[in-house]
Amino acid sequence: MHHPSRSGEPVTASISRGTASMTDPVRSLAARYYTDPAVFEAEMGGLLSRTWQFACHASALRNGGDYVTFEIAGESLFAIKGRDGVIRTFYNVCQHRAHQLVSGTGTKRLLVCPYHSWTYELTGELRSGPNIGVVEGFDRSKVCLTEVRTEVFLGLVFVNLDPKASPMDDWFPGVQDELRTWVPDWERLQPIRWIEIPESCNWKVSVENYSECYHCSLNHPTFATGVVKAETYDIQPQGYCLRHTTECQNLDDMTYQIDRSRAHAEEYSSWFLWPAFSFQAYPGNVLNTYHWRPLDVDRVVVWRGWYAVDGEESDVILDLARQDRETTVEEDVHLVESVQRGLRSRGYAPGPLVIDPKCGVNSEHSVMHLQRWMREAVDV
Ligand code: FES
Ligand SMILES: [Fe+2]
Repeated sequence: MHHPSRSGEPVTASISRGTASMTDPVRSLAARYYTDPAVFEAEMGGLLSRTWQFACHASALRNGGDYVTFEIAGESLFAIKGRDGVIRTFYNVCQHRAHQLVSGTGTKRLLVCPYHSWTYELTGELRSGPNIGVVEGFDRSKVCLTEVRTEVFLGLVFVNLDPKASPMDDWFPGVQDELRTWVPDWERLQPIRWIEIPESCNWKVSVENYSECYHCSLNHPTFATGVVKAETYDIQPQGYCLRHTTECQNLDDMTYQIDRSRAHAEEYSSWFLWPAFSFQAYPGNVLNTYHWRPLDVDRVVVWRGWYAVDGEESDVILDLARQDRETTVEEDVHLVESVQRGLRSRGYAPGPLVIDPKCGVNSEHSVMHLQRWMREAVDV
């Protein structure tokens, strides 16, 4: 696995001083990466099947037997808490003749297949099945549900369909430790709102838009003048994380009270985890998340998650969620949908990225890193 350094990689010869512009600037990714269904298929079978994908918040799996079903890369899966307190994830398929095992969410004492009632332990082992004792050579201990790599990261459950995947701490070095200091209440948080935002664009258009703030001052007046100091915004790779940092604006005019005695209480920060998830900490140590669920080559659903201590509804957080939905999110939907239409235009050829060697808010170096990962995912 390849880890870009925190300080960024050499930003290609084209921008280093002294090479009298004989090299071309780094160009944005070819349009077909965003419009060709074959690229999307390759990503589903490849990238999305070997990277860490968000499943659910661990608070949805409070007691032994609690389970949640979900889909990753076209596969039906379920996460379930064992009586030993461990959260495991399995493909949602019976090892007899392939019937689906569970649906929706709920609690199970044992996993009983609806087809012929083969019965599995919460750990995936086959416990019993009608009349299986008559089968010569049938070794019950050899039948087990197919398990999927599962990690709980800051109280959120992530899965990876690649059995050999590196742990999340290798992909995203230092991120979990940072998040624990920015979000000191993380163990008590529960989601209080999920906001679903369908976008008519390729998932990568949406992720790229999220990962640069070159468009912020023009398009996000509330965010750029009321939340962050846009001129201090920067984004740097940290392994396969893109780390956003900025100073905040107008803390005296904040619409909500924050406890300034806590570390990082006056900061805005975000951690985008390649390829489709992001943690954000707002002033006051307020955690919120983004995740992207690609539907097809030109449709994605973005989910915003908002969390509160012990899941207690809070006007502060609900107001933030509403303001964010009505301003930044709404503004971005129009941008990304226009870009998707443009990518289909015969009149478009990929333009140069604006890469400032000093980085900063008006630089697209973060898009360059992302597009390198996007290319790697499809071209290998
Ligand atoms: S397919 Fe599940 S018991 Fe037969
Ligand atoms: Fe934006």
